[in-house]
Amino acid sequence: MATKTILSFLGFLNESPTAWHAVASLKKLFKEKGYEELKENQIWVVKPGGHYFVIRNGSALCAFVIPKKKALGFRIATSHTDSPALKLKPNAEYYKENMVMMGVEVYGAPLLTSWLNRDLGIAGRIVYLDSQGDRQEALVNLNDHPLVIPQLAIHLDRNVNEEGLKLNKQEHLSALAALDPSPEKKTGTYLEKILKEKVALTQLLATDLFLYPLEPARLVGYNEQMIASYRIDSLASVYASVEGLCAAEESSSIQLVAFTDHEEVGSSSAQGADSPFLSQVLERISIGLKLSREEYFCLLNQSLCASIDLGHALHPNYAERHDPRHSPLLGKGVITKFNAQQRYATDAYSSGIIAELCQRLKIPLQAFVSRNDIPCGSTVGPIQASLTGIPTVDIGCAQLSMHSSRELFSSDDYLAMCQLVKEFFKD
Ligand code: CO
Repeated sequence: MATKTILSFLGFLNESPTAWHAVASLKKLFKEKGYEELKENQIWVVKPGGHYFVIRNGSALCAFVIPKKKALGFRIATSHTDSPALKLKPNAEYYKENMVMMGVEVYGAPLLTSWLNRDLGIAGRIVYLDSQGDRQEALVNLNDHPLVIPQLAIHLDRNVNEEGLKLNKQEHLSALAALDPSPEKKTGTYLEKILKEKVALTQLLATDLFLYPLEPARLVGYNEQMIASYRIDSLASVYASVEGLCAAEESSSIQLVAFTDHEEVGSSSAQGADSPFLSQVLERISIGLKLSREEYFCLLNQSLCASIDLGHALHPNYAERHDPRHSPLLGKGVITKFNAQQRYATDAYSSGIIAELCQRLKIPLQAFVSRNDIPCGSTVGPIQASLTGIPTVDIGCAQLSMHSSRELFSSDDYLAMCQLVKEFFKD
């Protein structure tokens, strides 16, 4: 297989170790495709037939295409740019005997054991003073100086395989970065030393820096059937939405993708799904198109949103953890996610549209429902639905090892999702 589409997705994964890097990669892509960047602090000029994108605070992005004819509604595909991770604390660096250590905070709900015993890079954004004394901001990706969080050897933790590894998040997650250099070589912190190799900074003011696994994305299985990588949740959804948008034919809808940050920590931030970002973009499009407020509400009423995020595939070693009739298989098509408590926004109306679409396109469709005694996660779907009032369906690809630093899913399912989003925008 290894089609162009798959290889392009692997490239995106490797370029996007953090939400900011993902949005920077998307900005480059949309610019190359001729989308015009709009700024939130400027008046928007939005024209029929136009292609636009807007970024909020570096880690959330909306891109949209205005139809040439009169728009009848919005078609929205939404997802999130962040993933569970370990974030460097502001005063991360300290010594333990002669070892240079970095203290971290846990971001979201990572499978902590997957972060041990592997080479970790540092990526994110920094704010600093340059040689003129001016404040600057930069995205950095420090991949030449791995850190490692070493696990306690089995000889010092004899029962670990029988009793499971218990990690104290404060005591056991600091990463080993270096050994103390000879005193004459030591100037400033280790972090500053490796940052200065990439950025001309005189003083570091603040950081949003995360550890990330350095191992790049890879293809797995017969004919590259699967993809293994960090951040499949939810960059697979983000990139499939972009592929779908860029391939979509013109329709009578305003076609829009909305990617927000902080889903893994509840979405409450200036650029999270629980912010006015999407609603403001929708309203500003209608203002730009010189629609009345009444016409804007009509437009909202004729809209549909697909919230795309990963779901759980049947785990071969833990089949009993899944509902026997709602356990999607890797490689057997996209999934619709249902939850009666509205942890997913899907209902019969919104999922019926997806079911009909998949049938027409011959895309296999699977249903996911969690066991009644194992509560499911949630995603941006219910949040966006309650803020916009737009009917929403929660769909996605199935994956294994969700929230680990190395996740696994199917290439065919990814390609099916690209195709589904493309057709979703056409309808
Ligand atoms: Co997710």
